[in-house]
Amino acid sequence: MRIKVINGPNLNMLGVREPDIYGRTTYSDLVELIKEHALKIGVSVDVFQSNHEGDLVDEIQACYGLVDGIVINPGAYTHTSVAILDALKAVSIPAVEVHISDVDSREEFRKISYVRAACQKTISGHGVKGYLEAMDFLAGVDQ
Ligand code: DQA
Repeated sequence: MRIKVINGPNLNMLGVREPDIYGRTTYSDLVELIKEHALKIGVSVDVFQSNHEGDLVDEIQACYGLVDGIVINPGAYTHTSVAILDALKAVSIPAVEVHISDVDSREEFRKISYVRAACQKTISGHGVKGYLEAMDFLAGVDQ
């Protein structure tokens, strides 16, 4: 199984960015955790991050025919981007929405997710572990 993990804006600042909300794990630590977990559950994984909405759309489109599952944390674009929603719908690849923080217990605007409609599951507020849980879900691994 081939999984693509896609991270949106400011997730490259993990570890530095609002550590009380997002924790102290750095982005490169997160990439390592994801790669180690992929080895453990026997899937191949590629990890992508961009601060640009169109680049995220391009990356989702590039998954078509090549990827079996998408784990996506669109960052702030979660709450604004119809383009990312449409890209996920266009490729029709099973996808899981991940948020490090619990978006439903923060500001009102974070409760709205456009991408959710194209995802099979949302994992929110489980910290960076949420990415690993999303991989397990896509791979059909019992948690
Ligand atoms: C986030 C939550 C979003 O509201 C925020 O804009 C982010 C990160 C999370 O992982 O908790 O950038 O997606």
